[in-house]
Amino acid sequence: MSLYKMKNIIIALFILFFLLSSISSFVLAHVTKSLNVSQRSTYIIHVLPPQDAASSNPFDLKSWHQSFMPDANSTSATGSQLLYSYSYACSGFAARLTKEELKGIEMKPGFVSAIPDRMYQLLTTHTPDFLGLTIGEGIWNHSNLGKGIIIGILDTGVDPEHLSFHDDGVPAPPSKWKGSCNFGKHLCNNKLIGSKAFVDGHVGGLATDETGHGTNTASIAAGNFVKGANYKGLGRGTAVGVAPLAHLAIYKVCKVISCLLVDILAGMDAALEDGIDVISLSLGGLSSSYITNPTAVGAYHAIEKGIVVTAAAGNDGPNPGSIVNGAPWILTVAASTNDRRFKSTVRLGNGDEFDGETLFQPINFTSEPLPLAFFTNLRYYTNKMVLIEANGDSAFELGGVLRERRSAGMIVFNDQLTGNTIIVSDNVLPNSCVSYDAGMKIKSYINSTENPTASLIFKGTTFGSVAPEITFFSSRGPNIQSPGILKPDVTGPGINILAAGTFPPSKALYVVDKQPFNVESGTSMSTPHLAGVTALVKCVHPDWSPAAIKSAILTTSYDKGSDKMPIKDEQYKEASVFAIGNGHVDPSKAMDPGLVYDIELDDYIGYLCGLNYSDGDMTTIVGKRVNCSNVKVLSEAELNYPTILVSLISSNSSKISRTVTNVGNARSTYKVEMEVPEGISLMVDPEILQFSKVNEKKSFNVTVIKTSKSLKGIWKAQLKWVSNIYIVRSVISEVKLL
Ligand SMILES: *[C@@H]1O[C@H](CO)[C@@H](O)[C@H](O)[C@H]1NC(C)=O
Ligand SMILES: *[C@@H]1O[C@H](CO)[C@@H](O)[C@H](O)[C@H]1NC(C)=O
Ligand SMILES: *[C@@H]1O[C@H](CO)[C@@H](O)[C@H](O)[C@H]1NC(C)=O
Ligand SMILES: *[C@@H]1O[C@H](CO)[C@@H](O)[C@H](O)[C@H]1NC(C)=O
Ligand SMILES: *[C@@H]1O[C@H](CO)[C@@H](O)[C@H](O)[C@H]1NC(C)=O
Ligand SMILES: *[C@@H]1O[C@H](CO)[C@@H](O)[C@H](O)[C@H]1NC(C)=O
Ligand SMILES: *[C@@H]1O[C@H](CO)[C@@H](O)[C@H](O)[C@H]1NC(C)=O
Repeated sequence: MSLYKMKNIIIALFILFFLLSSISSFVLAHVTKSLNVSQRSTYIIHVLPPQDAASSNPFDLKSWHQSFMPDANSTSATGSQLLYSYSYACSGFAARLTKEELKGIEMKPGFVSAIPDRMYQLLTTHTPDFLGLTIGEGIWNHSNLGKGIIIGILDTGVDPEHLSFHDDGVPAPPSKWKGSCNFGKHLCNNKLIGSKAFVDGHVGGLATDETGHGTNTASIAAGNFVKGANYKGLGRGTAVGVAPLAHLAIYKVCKVISCLLVDILAGMDAALEDGIDVISLSLGGLSSSYITNPTAVGAYHAIEKGIVVTAAAGNDGPNPGSIVNGAPWILTVAASTNDRRFKSTVRLGNGDEFDGETLFQPINFTSEPLPLAFFTNLRYYTNKMVLIEANGDSAFELGGVLRERRSAGMIVFNDQLTGNTIIVSDNVLPNSCVSYDAGMKIKSYINSTENPTASLIFKGTTFGSVAPEITFFSSRGPNIQSPGILKPDVTGPGINILAAGTFPPSKALYVVDKQPFNVESGTSMSTPHLAGVTALVKCVHPDWSPAAIKSAILTTSYDKGSDKMPIKDEQYKEASVFAIGNGHVDPSKAMDPGLVYDIELDDYIGYLCGLNYSDGDMTTIVGKRVNCSNVKVLSEAELNYPTILVSLISSNSSKISRTVTNVGNARSTYKVEMEVPEGISLMVDPEILQFSKVNEKKSFNVTVIKTSKSLKGIWKAQLKWVSNIYIVRSVISEVKLL
């Protein structure tokens, strides 16, 4: 039987398994094909809000939306259905309609646009320590661990019985909270204050998690302290979310692996109505224009209410242009490593050692050298160690195949694209997963000697590895929908994350054993880390706008690893700005940034007009009438973003301006410092900013000149405003088109 035949047998199981580790394009294709079988399709219909519609009408929102629907009494309309009437997340509704019915709606005054429904996919704890979060110190001291902040998680629901969701130390929700929790009195508590489900166009039912993804993301953002958490003894420690005393409001908008746009928008609508402070979105689809992208639309309406939206950058790296959720009002999160390893070291017969990782670390496995063979075909490898290239297969899958072939153990090495990113998994065969480089070296060792041998040494959980490094799967810019806005914004821990993951074995399709904690990877995991950090910052600065909070997180991030060298990517190269954004989040610094780059709602409207959206498109996005000819249009570079991309396509110089707001000491002086690569010249005017008041604003101009035609590839310069207390750091680079 071929390896590929075996693959097919178990592939159904592994579709789920893979999703959490890294989205494969196979899953994407598989999901989208099964859509649109019936005559009617689901659409999001954007309409003018009643007050903007031409006719003066007495409609309440629901009847206004209903008035667009086909006459319920005409026979042809039997079956058309209004699914959701949105009040907050956009101006419009969701409905199931035939093409003819849609044509009828398009004729009605007040109609703006119709967006066909699609599916998004899920983008699947030591990390608080790694983030510098220590009880009683820094941000965990001042911010009271997120007390009083409500984080809305739009995901697969939650396991309300999980240990992480107890409410010790969590106060009652604030009075602005209008939501409800339907898990019953004994499960709903001050931690789990809200639960609602929106599935297949319908409200209702319990927001119970069928896969563990939502339980995992919720626990990362705001899980309470759980002592002795571990995965089969590995990673043992106190599991805790980033904002342990924040409240959680759960909106189930995804089924096993996929989420309908109409459901996501309904979840956002409810979250905005209920009174949450932060939204965490670990889901995404293919990059699409803001008008056809309800998460961009819903997120715009969220920031209008002062709610911060954090969203996953996507798992389609390292392909350029793979970023999703890249609207400038969203905090777009990349995924990187932390310093913990589940170490399994390979020792070759010649004494060379290579550190790899695995979650399967049997204590009784021999540490004696075993004969080592390179995997060539499906023969038996009785009592041998086998070196095999992962080549897109998971180590777990390969372990099953090789155990059948009597292998004693295996060394799985990454393909070249995956490089140095090791996604750990459990297994059935003693193993070590190593980098592409290590694989190449082991391979040439096998060639170099008559009787190659290798042994595995399991070292359990170790700390202190060089970190962070950007993972191969973390999606990369440029940001196709708006190439002049740098995305991702920031990176956070997103690989091999230990977090809540218990669920009934019958439903736990992707876990080997029922374990209360699991180790997962994806921008799905880095995003709730940033949602937690956002909650901590918001707790200290409840009056800051979403843009100010984002700016604080970006300009205080760091760009050097624990080895003091620039943070690297999976190829051991310096991570480009299109992989890492401004840098890696530093929660304690984020609460006290000194200066912020703030953005007004009108600036976003000017920016959208600058992208040449029509007035109708503008209504779809912002939910009201906009006449771009009466708006102060801004180019992308002129939006007051904390990072800067200039266009040097038609000219070799570019001048832009920025405005900073003083949120540090009233009287403070900042001097400019610059890091500039060869071939670029940077001028900042003025070079000193002097503040005398809190909230005082100062503007400056930045001129970027390309002095060398031979400067190719992605370059990075840095602009720092430095006072005797603060460093406010922004990266500068150049717009790249795909
Ligand atoms: C549909 O028919 C019902 C009962 O015949 C009537 O009460 C209702 O007003 C009709 N609706 C419309 C929109 O004509
Ligand atoms: C924590 O905060 C309290 C009150 O704000 C302060 O008295 C104490 O010194 C702080 N502790 C640390 C370690 O920062
Ligand atoms: C190691 O221990 C497990 C159970 O603890 C047992 O099933 C397995 O056979 C043992 N392996 C060896 C090589 O002794
Ligand atoms: C090892 O030898 C095999 C077969 O002789 C060859 O195909 C392969 O390229 C060699 N690999 C290395 C790394 O030298
Ligand atoms: C937009 O404003 C311009 C200038 O004030 C005006 O000429 C134009 O008619 C307006 N467009 C719409 C659709 O109202
Ligand atoms: C920035 O440049 C513009 C002209 O290009 C000028 O009007 C403005 O005063 C300058 N701003 C500062 C702060 O120097
Ligand atoms: C900038 O471009 C102009 C023409 O557009 C050219 O004359 C000049 O030499 C260029 N400067 C540099 C530094 O490349």
